[in-house]
Amino acid sequence: MTLTQIDFQQRRTELAEKMGPHSIMLIATSPVVYRNRDADYKFRADSHFYYLTGFAEPEAVAVIETFESADEYSYSLFCRERDPEMEIWNGYRAGIDGAIEDYDADEAYAIDLLDEEIIEKLQHKQKLYYRIGHDAAFDTRVNTWLKTAENAQRKGAVSPSQVLQLERILDEMRVIKSEQELELMQIAANISAEAHTRAMQKVRPNMMEYALEAELNYIFGQNGCVPAYNSIVGGGENACILHYVENNQPLNSGDLVLIDAACEYQHYASDITRTFPVNGKFSEAQKALYNVVLKAQYAAIDAVQLGNRYNEPHKVAVKILTQGLLDLGLLKGELDALIAAEAYHPFYMHGTGHWLGMDVHDVGAYKMDAESRLFEEGMVITIEPGLYISAQDESVDEKWRGIGIRIEDDVVVTKNGPRVLTANVVKTIEDIEALMAQSAHSPNA
Ligand code: GLY
Ligand code: MN
Ligand code: MN
Repeated sequence: MTLTQIDFQQRRTELAEKMGPHSIMLIATSPVVYRNRDADYKFRADSHFYYLTGFAEPEAVAVIETFESADEYSYSLFCRERDPEMEIWNGYRAGIDGAIEDYDADEAYAIDLLDEEIIEKLQHKQKLYYRIGHDAAFDTRVNTWLKTAENAQRKGAVSPSQVLQLERILDEMRVIKSEQELELMQIAANISAEAHTRAMQKVRPNMMEYALEAELNYIFGQNGCVPAYNSIVGGGENACILHYVENNQPLNSGDLVLIDAACEYQHYASDITRTFPVNGKFSEAQKALYNVVLKAQYAAIDAVQLGNRYNEPHKVAVKILTQGLLDLGLLKGELDALIAAEAYHPFYMHGTGHWLGMDVHDVGAYKMDAESRLFEEGMVITIEPGLYISAQDESVDEKWRGIGIRIEDDVVVTKNGPRVLTANVVKTIEDIEALMAQSAHSPNA
């Protein structure tokens, strides 16, 4: 399954309609980023840019122009020219002909001609859409183009009198996923689920966290994928560091390990967290906390329903987590008062989910008219409650200290209720222990 030029063209048509007549849209892909000296990070196209073009090469700018009516629009792609010598060094380029033939551009130009050609195109437009404030260097170039076009206006041309935030439109287009996008996200989720399953099978006491991370990367790599974000593999109290990415400590028998890792497939992300015992068996304290998080997660997933608002799963999760902390004696008091005072905060300090799509923390507003927005069909959200008991927390019984647990799945809003994309990796204590026992784990392994 891959997206075709028809999918990208439909997106450009929808954008042109939303722009209205006599408008122009500019968008650049991501810059190449250097890791150190001559070594660059593997290039990843900008998500908005790729969403509209399907073009994954660096150094490219897309332009959409509408005319008398928005149905009539033209798509131009500025990209690197073919260059046999440079292609020997850095690989294949589509070039100007490829932009037209393979990427459906109506017009294509060498990226070096951008300054010149844009001034020409701006001169006949009333509205300019671009990502205001996204990239300071691009803002400066746009300002220069606008000034130049405005100066030409005195000589009789028309230049844009309105500059509008392109992200407002694209964010809202992307927050609702098409069937094809959901298919790609399902593939990403399946590969990530397989990686987590392998991690549960491969973990052994005294293994290094990075060695377990390598087991995840093996599955991502075998499927032509890269991690969608830096993998978190935290043993014991490292699980209480929300963005722990050092992954350089040994995994100890008796501890849990929290893995928050998932791949990106064809520019679409997944996002999974599982927490399981290094030696294959949960202790009583770990079980008690784990089951509170799991109960909260099931209930929060159930709250992903049309008619509910984005913050409903969080409210549901907070209630169950707080009740669980009360039942286990980590909090004392009355449920509603504890929730109102956010007494759970030292143990649960993050939200319960975010939009997921081409970006792991995907675009799309979370509020509409100052209220948490209603779920709509085709939205994808993560559901990821957790409990984190600091190793230094002397207010709780010693047995709880240094335990960190999160369980995260990816959920589609459908008219038939929540659809979990990441159901292929187990999460009940029974299923995790059974899977780990099959891989020859034992408390003394
Ligand atoms: N993996 C990033 C997150 O869960 O938000
Ligand atoms: Mn997440
Ligand atoms: Mn995550």
